[in-house]
Amino acid sequence: MGSELIYRGHETHPASDSYSPKPVKPWASVIRPIRYMLREQRLLFVLVGIAIATLIFTIFPTSRAPHVPHHHFTTSISDSITYFPIEPQNKFSYPHRVGFESANPTGKIPLGLKRKGLRIVVTGGAGFVGSHLVDRLIARGDSVIVVDNFFTGRKENVMHHFGNPNFELIRHDVVEPLLLEVDQIYHLACPASPVHYKFNPVKTIKTNVVGTLNMLGLAKRVGARFLLTSTSEVYGDPLQHPQKETYWGNVNPIGVRSCYDEGKRTAETLTMDYHRGAGVEVRIARIFNTYGPRMCIDDGRVVSNFVAQALRKEPLTVYGDGKQTRSFQYVSDLVEGLMRLMEGEHVGPFNLGNPGEFTMLELAEVVQETIDPNAKIEFRPNTEDDPHKRKPDISRAKELLGWQPKVSLRKGLPLMVSDFRQRIFGDHKEGSNTNNASTS
Ligand SMILES: NC(=O)c1ccc[n+]([C@@H]2O[C@H](COP(=O)([O-])OP(=O)(O)OC[C@H]3O[C@@H](n4cnc5c(N)ncnc54)[C@H](O)[C@@H]3O)[C@@H](O)[C@H]2O)c1
Repeated sequence: MGSELIYRGHETHPASDSYSPKPVKPWASVIRPIRYMLREQRLLFVLVGIAIATLIFTIFPTSRAPHVPHHHFTTSISDSITYFPIEPQNKFSYPHRVGFESANPTGKIPLGLKRKGLRIVVTGGAGFVGSHLVDRLIARGDSVIVVDNFFTGRKENVMHHFGNPNFELIRHDVVEPLLLEVDQIYHLACPASPVHYKFNPVKTIKTNVVGTLNMLGLAKRVGARFLLTSTSEVYGDPLQHPQKETYWGNVNPIGVRSCYDEGKRTAETLTMDYHRGAGVEVRIARIFNTYGPRMCIDDGRVVSNFVAQALRKEPLTVYGDGKQTRSFQYVSDLVEGLMRLMEGEHVGPFNLGNPGEFTMLELAEVVQETIDPNAKIEFRPNTEDDPHKRKPDISRAKELLGWQPKVSLRKGLPLMVSDFRQRIFGDHKEGSNTNNASTS
């Protein structure tokens, strides 16, 4: 029995009457699909399919860069430390700058939409500092959107960019929300001179608080980096001299300057809270007195006051005894500092100012030397809450931003005088080139 079984088993294989499959043809697997394709225009359909797939893979490539979260808070943020280094994964650093990156975090931009520069909003860009910043950003190849309500700003400050496709101007009040696709936000919108910020104090604090909130909200929504232009006024009437970023200030919360001082302090708070709480990339600059072409004439700021008065042959008005000190920074130095801060890796706050300290009387002398040696000085009672001393300690900016001012008062003042002379007297022969002045 056992042997029979074994025998049958052997016999099944060669039996001629049993079913045997057709011999395998090696070409069949190739020829069959080709025949199929050639039948009834199926080839055409296949080709069309391939074309569509190629198009889709070109526009939405599958090889996406691994998603790296924007904000790595590997560093501890301590309340007592006033600068916050963040991870050096700086997508805005000069060599790697690519526009639209924040709007398209996968890194791939549809063909035909690639840009070299960044898209940058400058709020208050029609003002004194803002317009010089815009000049530098445009010269660098970025696309700039100026948002300004023209309270103290002027179209004349930016109209040399009209017609440039990289420049846009929007009349808008920052206390109202605004949605724009941008990579960076320089938030400057706020009247800076006492005459202007005291004109409507409620509006001033609203601009500082609501305006800053709106711009931080925008930064959060579109993943933009946000830079706040704060002020040395956050130190109030300082009890520490010179002022370091670690100093918390001596500010009157109910004085006539509080709408500005406390407004900027709150703006700094909001900026840090958005950074810590919502992961927004932020930068804070504390700007000290800055002067230069395009400042508002008669805005009550001491340099513009003295220059305009000397040009008009009026006495230079010194408030108090004239021994209170200020530092004076030329605008191109400030713009360089702001851009380094924005592109750098540190949150701040950073003092940006010129540590060269002058009393009001010394400043009056420099103005006399530059414009009119016979200009008279007239003393007036001091204004409320006028700080006695102001001088930045800029060691932090020197060390971490590699920045320090280059233009001395004696070099910068004549550049401003040329611009003021032209605007006051319409003198087109002299100093008609305020742009050169800004980059000197
Ligand atoms: N210039 C300085 O010495 C100095 C010092 C410290 C801080 N800052 C800060 O720098 C920034 C610019 O100062 P600046 O000297 O160029 O002043 P500025 O007055 O010349 O410019 C401010 C600009 O903001 C605009 N603006 C004001 N309120 C606005 C609003 N609600 N909505 C939209 N736009 C508005 C104005 O029209 C103007 O164009 C300000 O935030 C200021 O606080 C300046």
